[in-house]
Amino acid sequence: MHSIPLISILIWAFAAAIAYYFLGGFLWGAGYAPTNRTEIEKVARFLDLKEGKTFYDLGSGYGRMVIAIAQNCNVNCIGVEMDPVKCWWTTFMIKRKKLEDKVKIIQSNIFGVNLSEAENVFVFLSNSTQIMKNLREKMFREMKPGAHVVSYVHRFEDWTPEKVEGSLYLYSIPEHPLPDLNRATL
Ligand SMILES: C[S@@+](CC[C@H](N)C(=O)[O-])C[C@H]1O[C@@H](n2cnc3c(N)ncnc32)[C@H](O)[C@@H]1O
Repeated sequence: MHSIPLISILIWAFAAAIAYYFLGGFLWGAGYAPTNRTEIEKVARFLDLKEGKTFYDLGSGYGRMVIAIAQNCNVNCIGVEMDPVKCWWTTFMIKRKKLEDKVKIIQSNIFGVNLSEAENVFVFLSNSTQIMKNLREKMFREMKPGAHVVSYVHRFEDWTPEKVEGSLYLYSIPEHPLPDLNRATL
């Protein structure tokens, strides 16, 4: 019997890793695209992130955003991600960069995480109107008035952004929910 050369195994493993990076998200019903470095810097500016604040990335992917924000702004970051492979990679990078005190990853659906302590939230999620609508309702229910949300690429319907720059939309949680928000269903 022929043994498989190590180089073939390595090539196949590399190809599988690349394929998972781009397509693995579809296993979890969600695609994956990273936020680029310029946008990460803009998000920090938009949210005026300073030491002592808390930052959430809902759908944190491989952790680029939470790691960069923790390193550059010295704030406490929480990433929520449902894909276990992405969570494993992010945890590995957090340890490698010695950011265990600053960054925490929660492996969960974003709809299963309580957002009442979230002061600054970033999302780069989906063009599904329903997901964005459900998320907006959850944030209105749980987050405190005045807390900030930045969405990259996808706008929230029926919620006017405070500021728009390129594909970044900055929102504030209002004092009172919007009139169309049916509290009976919340
Ligand atoms: C477009 S990527 C953004 C990644 C990261 N925020 C960044 O900016 O680099 C969206 C991520 O959200 C995750 N995601 C989508 N829906 C989710 C859900 N309901 N709960 C948890 N994670 C979710 C996907 O697995 C994917 O990693």
